[in-house]
Amino acid sequence: MNTLLVSTVFIVAFSAWQTSAMLHSGQGSITVLEDKEYECKPFPFDPELNSNDIRVHLTVKGSNYETAVPWIESVSGKGFTGCVATSGPIATSRTISLQWMAFKHSDIPSIAFAKILSIPLWTTGTKCVVVDTGSQFSLESYTPFIFLTVIHTSPTKYKHDATSVWAEDVTKNDFKACVRELKNFDGVHTGVEVEVLALTYGAIMPSGWSIPYNKKVLFNNGYSPSANTGYSFCKDVSFAYPYFKTPIVLTTATHDETNIAADNNAITEWTQSVSKSGFRICLKDIQRYDYPNHDPITVNYLAIGSIDPCQGVTCNYYAECESSSPTNYACKCQACTGSESGPLCDDNGVTHKSRCEYELAVCNAKSSLGIKHNGGCKPFILERGRVALRLNATDVQCKTVSFKQGAFESSKGVYVQTSINYFNYTGNFTHDAAVTWVENVATSTFKVCALKAGRAERWTPDHGLTFVDFVAFQESPVGALSGRIQMPSKWWDGTTCEKVSFYTTTFSTVPYVLLTAEHNVLGQKHDAATVWVENPKKDGFTACLREMQNFDGLHENIIVNWIAFKSLPSKLLARQKFIDFPNSDLPQAGYHNAYCETVPFGKTYASTPTIIVSASHNSGTGAEGNMIPEYNTIASWIEHITNTDYRVCIKEIHKPNGYDPVKVSALMIGT
Ligand SMILES: *[C@@H]1O[C@H](CO)[C@@H](O)[C@H](O)[C@H]1NC(C)=O
Ligand SMILES: *[C@@H]1O[C@H](CO)[C@@H](O)[C@H](O)[C@H]1NC(C)=O
Ligand SMILES: *[C@@H]1O[C@H](CO)[C@@H](O)[C@H](O)[C@H]1NC(C)=O
Repeated sequence: MNTLLVSTVFIVAFSAWQTSAMLHSGQGSITVLEDKEYECKPFPFDPELNSNDIRVHLTVKGSNYETAVPWIESVSGKGFTGCVATSGPIATSRTISLQWMAFKHSDIPSIAFAKILSIPLWTTGTKCVVVDTGSQFSLESYTPFIFLTVIHTSPTKYKHDATSVWAEDVTKNDFKACVRELKNFDGVHTGVEVEVLALTYGAIMPSGWSIPYNKKVLFNNGYSPSANTGYSFCKDVSFAYPYFKTPIVLTTATHDETNIAADNNAITEWTQSVSKSGFRICLKDIQRYDYPNHDPITVNYLAIGSIDPCQGVTCNYYAECESSSPTNYACKCQACTGSESGPLCDDNGVTHKSRCEYELAVCNAKSSLGIKHNGGCKPFILERGRVALRLNATDVQCKTVSFKQGAFESSKGVYVQTSINYFNYTGNFTHDAAVTWVENVATSTFKVCALKAGRAERWTPDHGLTFVDFVAFQESPVGALSGRIQMPSKWWDGTTCEKVSFYTTTFSTVPYVLLTAEHNVLGQKHDAATVWVENPKKDGFTACLREMQNFDGLHENIIVNWIAFKSLPSKLLARQKFIDFPNSDLPQAGYHNAYCETVPFGKTYASTPTIIVSASHNSGTGAEGNMIPEYNTIASWIEHITNTDYRVCIKEIHKPNGYDPVKVSALMIGT
């Protein structure tokens, strides 16, 4: 039983105890066992209704496509007995829900018709009885909405009187109430009654009757239903406004004789599911053997409950409406859950960690506030440098780097980007791919690590001398977004990827994106991974990591630092470039099978600039046929850097028909 709904109605009724009509409604489930095929259960009223003329209507709510027909027995002011008989197979048991409403006959709306109709004795098939509804509906625009429920007055006969019930040929003055035995030739039927309720469209309901929806739904049914709906016709009905709680939905089918006479028909309808926003209704009827289509059927429905009080409410300052009862609601500020977006600076010069935190602050302050720019309000701080490492063929090499004293604010995180280079190497040797990552990033120091691919020894003319350029910063520079993304907390083999959304910004074109891994399990060479950007877009990208050596064990708790930008403030002395690697030819053996390009700066630097590179690749929409990240790995690094040019190299996985194009984002900082 829907006690909340009942108690709500009770409170409304209590406040005007003498005059208000009371409408009880609720639902209860009944479990029918395979060998019994029907079951009954008492539905008590709480509170009791003090009248000896109580009317009850029932509708079956069943989750599958098999038929079940309901009826009621022994109605009094204390409650009623609800019963259901089933058709179709039952695997040990079947649970059906009965949705019901009950009211005093004297409480019906002023323009309405309610009657208990006696069905005369019948022995087989369908029995219809004409019901004269008088003249009260004759001036209405629509024929009345008929609701019918079967009553058994001889309970001992139980299921053999089980029938479907529907209305036939409804006009403004009369209609036929038809019942059809569920099981053919099931004996003599006596003592069967039909409870009739006829309402007008948009009927003015008595106070205490909470029925915002009283409507019809038309099933055209000009075809044969299919096996995937169990040969039933089903329709989803949406309420124009959502309910506060899931309503109780009562239905009755009506049919106008077109091709099938009532005597040859059997119609039964039921709801399959009911939610606050709508319900799904299904029906079955009989089709003529010589006619391909089913007849149109209209289902009348009413839905009992209160419309959500948040309906039509607009909340200011990013609050959202939440209702706590059918009449109470409040605009509430929404807590933030792990937003990935970067910081932004408001008009008051306050930095918010994310768009969501900004909206929450506006909501709590209940005052509007603009956004000055993406990125923190404090001046963007950047440190850069170059670290020399001597890589050998087998082990991770790490070095701790100290930032200038007091360079960074201790209250905020530091993002670090790193890239491998051999800046002062002058020969024509192309190095093996190597990867770099950072560990223990703090506001005063961090550790930079690197590992060479191909753990088997390959002679390098510089005896493993390797440089790592780094750029470390706090906040995001104006116009850029930066963040840290937690990769899946544990992964075992191959590639792992994670999507990043630029919540606050959509760039005008695809931005430059740089990525660097940060390890939290320290000094582990087996965590060494290539990092690249997959499917960069104006509003986000996917960060991918691939272990350097296959099946290299469990990888835990890796973070990727990212920055996305179109251009950086001029005072940072930064320039950026996309380098296209079409990769349509095979890579050259002379370059150790890497793809390499020498790129002029287009200016002369006083000293070699700091350079960070990250590769990006497309496998998404428009790039079908390209390698998916699960099968790929892309490494990017820099060979030489001079005052006028630099040489960028990449390696990627060969696919059966060649190599995919790759784009490298390069950031150059220097004077
Ligand atoms: C590689 O470097 C590690 C750490 O510096 C060292 O322990 C190891 O002996 C070196 N291996 C070779 C082959 O030089
Ligand atoms: C490159 O620079 C390093 C460190 O500054 C130095 O030890 C090395 O000799 C240089 N190599 C060349 C080829 O200039
Ligand atoms: C590299 O330089 C050496 C000596 O100058 C030369 O013999 C060799 O052919 C060059 N290799 C490539 C791939 O250019």
